[in-house]
Amino acid sequence: MTDYVQPNIYPQARTSTAWQRLTALAQQSWSITALFADSPKRAEYFRVTAASLYMDYSKQCVDDEVMQALFALADSCDLQARIDDLLQGATVNSSEQRPALHTALRLPKDAKLTVAGTDVVNDVHESLDQVERLANRIREGTWRGFSGKAITDVVNIGVGGSDLGPLMVTSALDDWADTDIAVHFVSNMDGSQLDNVLKRLSPETTVFIISSKSFSTVDTLSNAETARTWLFDAAKLRLGSDDSVLRRHFIGISTHAARMCEWGIHPENQLKFWEWVGGRFSLWSAIGLTVAVRIGMDNFRALLAGAHNMDEHFATTSFDKNLPVILGLLAVWNSSFLDIHAHTVLPYDGRLHALPSYLTQLEMESNGKSVTHQGDTLDHNTCPILWGEVGSNAQHAFYQLLHQGTQQVSCDFIACVAHYHHQASAASLQYQHQLALANCLAQSRVLAFGNASEQQGIEADSHKHYRGNQPSTTLLLDALTPYSLGALIALYEHKVYVMASIWDVNPFDQWGVEMGKAVATSVHHVLAEQAPADFDASTNALLRHIQQYQNGASTAAHKE
Ligand code: F6P
Repeated sequence: MTDYVQPNIYPQARTSTAWQRLTALAQQSWSITALFADSPKRAEYFRVTAASLYMDYSKQCVDDEVMQALFALADSCDLQARIDDLLQGATVNSSEQRPALHTALRLPKDAKLTVAGTDVVNDVHESLDQVERLANRIREGTWRGFSGKAITDVVNIGVGGSDLGPLMVTSALDDWADTDIAVHFVSNMDGSQLDNVLKRLSPETTVFIISSKSFSTVDTLSNAETARTWLFDAAKLRLGSDDSVLRRHFIGISTHAARMCEWGIHPENQLKFWEWVGGRFSLWSAIGLTVAVRIGMDNFRALLAGAHNMDEHFATTSFDKNLPVILGLLAVWNSSFLDIHAHTVLPYDGRLHALPSYLTQLEMESNGKSVTHQGDTLDHNTCPILWGEVGSNAQHAFYQLLHQGTQQVSCDFIACVAHYHHQASAASLQYQHQLALANCLAQSRVLAFGNASEQQGIEADSHKHYRGNQPSTTLLLDALTPYSLGALIALYEHKVYVMASIWDVNPFDQWGVEMGKAVATSVHHVLAEQAPADFDASTNALLRHIQQYQNGASTAAHKE
């Protein structure tokens, strides 16, 4: 599938009159307190619902004029055509000359999408069926380890998009787990995570999933090799002496079949996906196998259905009611016009603890760019620095800075309206849930209105003054289900695309991470071969220190 349809050449928002208008509007002094005083009903206007999500953006520094200018900005760069091109498989990833078809991964079976002569829907559903078969064999205990025992533990070895997505979804949806089979995630290059996991597992009953789009990422391959050695040592075999051990304990998920074969993944255990799935957009593909193992294929398909619902909403809803469009435009307003350089994601639900790190990759690897598709340097801010934490924990960690620091920070508050509703007897858990909801609402209120929120006016003691005016959006999920989580993740994927479209950057490549990998290879050569270092003075000195210490330590260890 190489004969892709080229996208249209789009107009740029940067040169539009809407951009100028927004630049002028940003010069006004924006007070959230004043906005509410002027328009007490703004919470009714600045809200939107879709796919079991309710979004309140009334605590953003916007009024109707700004919103209209933002919608004009979206029109100025042909956002609707850009959305259509994304969904239809045009070459939206311009620097790598390919589509970004993560939305095709959640199309229903009867949908039609042919890209460069290939029936994408058919391919996607064949792959999903293979995921289902494999997951069921593990779940039903018919997949046996080398000693004939059923599998008790599945370890996903991957990094970035081959780790963060399935990790986040399995931890968020563990209430849906209907198996005792445990799933573990290993990503760190240094081996510490793997070492920690292996200590607790039995080689006879462990399956490793080597997840890597490229099947060449050193972090993943080094962990995979250690896992393979651990297994062969346990099975008292030498590598190559018995392929059935590899076959019973290793599954590979990649776009590179040849590399999987070369590593030793049996063809039956290879799950393939496509170059048009970006790593950080891949959890909907076979990369989600651990999700299917843990919560079952029906729930995995419900996750896909929720995401698909959001895709349809994104594609067909007018911009003024379109959740991802509004979320993306607000982010552009904050970053490029109001000069807010930091954004924090605050889920008030421990099940979403991994969502902030998932979003750091999704947003910063996608939109941490400073040139347009054509390579022209941008003269405004793009992606803010994003971080986050479970909101109630963050209250005891970094909220001090949000309330009284010197930086403006925009915030996303995320909460689930219903929780523990099936546990009728769990009154005390229900109480805790209400407490978390109250804290979520209270914090966004104080961040918006400061001391004024409690009608105390300006606090005389400056140490106790809360200036407020930190813009936030609150997202309420009816309840956390596979379906609503799918919709929430798709919402953020599309938010990223909206921002990228306004800035005309390519959100689907990540050239910025390549050079570090190449330099690491040269540095590693010096360490491994004890070769002379010829880098900058700082790197050379650090290497000398490491080598001297390691040589001394190894001599000392040898003497013991
Ligand atoms: O180095 C960055 C990156 O390419 C991410 O985009 C990707 O998710 C991650 O590495 C892992 O890549 P792979 O799935 O090919 O191992």
